Amino acid sequence: MTGSTATTENAGIAEPAVLSDVRGWFWDLDRHAFEWFLRSQQQARVGGDLLELGAYLGRSAIVMGNHLQPGEKFTVCDLFDSEAMEEENSAEMARSYRKTLTREAFEVNYLAFHDRLPELVQAPTSVLADGRIPAGSCRFAHVDASHVYEHVAGDIKVARAALAEDGVLVLDDYRSAHTPGVAAATWEAVFTLGLKPIVLTDCKFYGTWGDPEPAQELLLAASGGAPGCWVHPETIAGRQVLRMGGTPEKIADFPVSRHHDRLVKEAAARAQREGTVRAAELLAVRRAAAAAARRPVAVAKRMAADLLPPVVTSAVRRARRSK
Ligand SMILES: C[S@@+](CC[C@H](N)C(=O)[O-])C[C@H]1O[C@@H](n2cnc3c(N)ncnc32)[C@H](O)[C@@H]1O
Repeated sequence: MTGSTATTENAGIAEPAVLSDVRGWFWDLDRHAFEWFLRSQQQARVGGDLLELGAYLGRSAIVMGNHLQPGEKFTVCDLFDSEAMEEENSAEMARSYRKTLTREAFEVNYLAFHDRLPELVQAPTSVLADGRIPAGSCRFAHVDASHVYEHVAGDIKVARAALAEDGVLVLDDYRSAHTPGVAAATWEAVFTLGLKPIVLTDCKFYGTWGDPEPAQELLLAASGGAPGCWVHPETIAGRQVLRMGGTPEKIADFPVSRHHDRLVKEAAARAQREGTVRAAELLAVRRAAAAAARRPVAVAKRMAADLLPPVVTSAVRRARRSK
C-alpha cells in the first residue's frame, strides 16, 4: 500500500509517507530514467560517487540515494535557506522556493527514506569549482539548481570535472520556455565542450563525455526499459540522440518511507474516530486503495484489513470490481 498520509509532524515539518509527499519537480518518467541509468551502471559494475546540484526538498536526491553503493559518496549542493549572492538568482529563489524550502525540511524528507544524510553543501553551486569533488570521481551528476545561464554553464563545468569518462550528466529544464539560460548552456556544452546527448525527455537531458552508444543501444533494445515507455532515434549534426517519452505506469512503486505504516494507521484511526475523512486524507486513501487494488488479492485483502477503515476497504473493493 502506498497511501500518502503525511500529517504527523517532525519539528513542524510533515513527514512523508511516500515519495510523492515530497514536493518537487521530479516526475515518474525521469525517476524511471534515473533508476535505469543508475541500475545499469551497477549491473555493469561501474562504481563512482553521485552528485546533485539543486535538491529543493529532496525528491530527486532521495531516488539517487537509493542507488548509493557501499563505499560511494553522495554530495548534494543547495542554497536551502541561505541567501543567493546575485539579484537574478535571488529573484528566482524568492519566486519559486522561499516559502517552502529549508535545509531542515530536506533532512526530514531524506531521512524518512534513508539512514544517513548525503554530504550536504549549503552554498551556491559555484563553490564546487574549488575542486572539493575529486576529479573523475562521479558516475552520475544531476544539475538542477539556478536557471541563470552563467550559473548553469559553471555547473556543467563542475560536473564535467567531477564525472568519470563514461559518467552520466543530467541537465534539468534544458528546453522549458521559462529557462532559456539552461537551454543555451546545454547546447553550448554539446557544440563546444564535447558533451554527447544520450537521451532526451520532456524535462531532462541525459548525456556523457564518454561513448553514448552503449546506453543508447540498450535503451533502444529495451524500448525505454519499462512498459508504457517509448524511445525514438533522432539525429543532431550527424550524431544519434534518442527521445524518450510515455507514461511508465508499470515502473515499480518507489519504496515507502519509514513512517508510512504508522502514518496510514494514524490516518485510518482519525477517519474512524471522526467518522469522516478529511480532503487530504481522502486523496491518500484513494491512492492507497488504488495501490492495494494493483497488488495480488491476498496481500491487498490482508493489508486493507490490517490498516484501513471501512471507507477505504470498500474503495478497494470498488477499485477491484471496476478493473
Ligand atoms: C528546481 S529546484 C530542484 C528540484 C529538485 N531536484 C527536485 O527533485 O524537486 C532548484 C533548487 O536549486 C537551488 N538553487 C538555486 N540557485 C542555486 C545556486 N546558485 N546554488 C545552489 N543552489 C541553488 C534552490 O534552492 C532549489 O532548491
